Formats: sequence, structure tokens, C-alpha cells
Amino acid sequence: MRTLAAIGIFTEPSPGVYAHTLQSQTLRQPQHRAVIQGMAETATLMTALPDFLETHKWQNPVDAQPTLFGFAHQTDQTMFEWLESQPEQRAIFAAFQSSTAALAVCQLQPFLRSLLSAPPEDPSNDETREVTLVDVGGGRGAVLRQVSDELDPPPRGRIVLQDLPQVLEGVDGGDRVEVMPYNFLQPQPVHGARTYLFRHIFHNWSDGVVATILQNTVAAMAPSSRLVIVDLVLPDGGGASPYAAFLDVSMMAFGGMERTEAQWRGILGRAGLQVRRIEPLDALTPGSDQVIEAVLA
Ligand SMILES: C[S@@+](CC[C@H](N)C(=O)[O-])C[C@H]1O[C@@H](n2cnc3c(N)ncnc32)[C@H](O)[C@@H]1O
Repeated sequence: MRTLAAIGIFTEPSPGVYAHTLQSQTLRQPQHRAVIQGMAETATLMTALPDFLETHKWQNPVDAQPTLFGFAHQTDQTMFEWLESQPEQRAIFAAFQSSTAALAVCQLQPFLRSLLSAPPEDPSNDETREVTLVDVGGGRGAVLRQVSDELDPPPRGRIVLQDLPQVLEGVDGGDRVEVMPYNFLQPQPVHGARTYLFRHIFHNWSDGVVATILQNTVAAMAPSSRLVIVDLVLPDGGGASPYAAFLDVSMMAFGGMERTEAQWRGILGRAGLQVRRIEPLDALTPGSDQVIEAVLA
């Protein structure tokens, strides 16, 4: 208890007496245990980091392989390919994703609501065929479904949730969310959507893979489409927060990275996109994810 109090999970109002905090209350909930299991997997990987870096001459991973994950698990598959043959690990990862999305629900709900209720760029479009939002790599989409179900008046146009088929197994999008298995390394099948959303996608991948995903999306975008990214934006001049730096090295384990503003602008520019705005998802929370909006250049 002393250890947990020292790192702020509990408080110690008087000697030997411990009290719950928001963190401890949250961790008690069974759905959030997967966060601990997910972090434990990352911590195990980190024990192999010195050997991995030495083997690969201290180079930053720049492509889908080699990665610390592949090195530690002795596979040349990416984590997502590997998970396909590991149902138990896949269930933990799915629970981890749902849990982190649930923890961010206060930020996500208003954000998704604003994407779904924004007026169309081209009001003359046929609203029954128009696609309002494609949530690419959206996981199992629980928050998206909840927000879509609650919107009154109902959102105009189609709402599409895309992810790998095994992730979407058994997902019910209700009346308003279309569930569409899709591999984002292949051409995007939904053309001319108003918004293509990528939340916590690009930080999992190296620049080479991100370029492929962007290319597949750009080919499907109309002049009125926008690509919206929700991820961290690291400061250009150094000085990332400890949390952002921890996420950066965690993503490196899987061949990804957190990116600075200059890196985001560079990678989007090379894909033929022009950044329209970068702003915090939640202006009141320091270190919040940023929303990066880009359109065809
Ligand atoms: C870090 S999670 C983010 C999930 C969701 N966007 C969110 O914010 O909670 C990354 C997602 O990318 C999906 N993914 C990984 N590789 C993919 C691929 N090749 N095609 C489509 N989705 C993929 C994973 O299944 C996972 O749901």
C-alpha cells in the first residue's frame, strides 16, 4: 500500500490508513484490468530493448520490420498479424482498447458528436448516399455506436466503422453504424466521405506504412473530404512530457512512434494533403491528444 500511495494510486490520510482515489476506483472496475495486462506486455518487451537495439546497431525502426515486438516474440509478423493467431492475447488487446476508449469517453463523445452533426461541405449531395464518417481502424466502436444512437435529430448520411474482420467479429452497429471489415493497407472502398477518422492509428506504424495508409485514403477522398487524425503531437523543439515520451518508446516497440508537428506536416504533405488545423482534443487537459485535420492539397 505504501508503494501505491507513493505513486498516487491511493492516499494515506493518516499513518497506516489508506483511501481510494479516482485512479484506484477506476482500476477496481473489471473492464479496466486489461490496461494493466497491456502495460505488463509492454514492460516485458522493454526488457528485450537493449538486446534489440544492440542487434540492430542502435537504429530507430523505420519500417514494419524489424521491431522489438518481432524480436521478443521471434516472429516477423506485426503485432496485429500475430494477434490473429493468438485468441487469448487478442481478447486482452480488444479489452485494452475498449478500456482506454472508455477512459477517454468524456473527450470522445463531444468530439464524435461534432463530427457527426457538422453541416455537409456540399449540401446538394444526396444525403441517403452521403457518407458522414468513416472510422478507420475504429476497433469495436462502442463509443461511436452510443453517440450515433443518441443523436437527435439523427445524423445525416452513413456512418461506417472499419477494422480487421477478426476485430469486428460479433460487433453490432445497431441501426446507424455500418460495420465494414477492411484492411487499411488495401485501397479504401468508401469514396468521397465527409470525414475519414484515424484515432490512435498512425502512432502504431512507421513512416513507410503510414504513407501506404494515407495513399489508400487520399485516392478515395473528394475535394470536400477531410482526413482527421487524433494522436499526440510532440513539441518540435524537444521537451516532450514523460507520458508522451513513454508512449513514444512503447510505440517504437511495435515499429511505430509519436510524431512532432514538423513530422506530421511532412508526412501529410508528402501524401498530397494540406494541414488545415491542429488543436487539442481537450483544451482543458494538459498533454491531451491533438486533432489534426487535413484536406487534399
Ligand atoms: C490502437 S487501436 C485504435 C482503435 C480505435 N481507433 C480507438 O481509438 O480506440 C488500433 C486499431 O487499428 C486496427 N488495425 C490494425 N491493423 C489494421 C489494418 N491493417 N486494417 C484495419 N485496421 C487495423 C486494430 O485492430 C485496432 O483496432
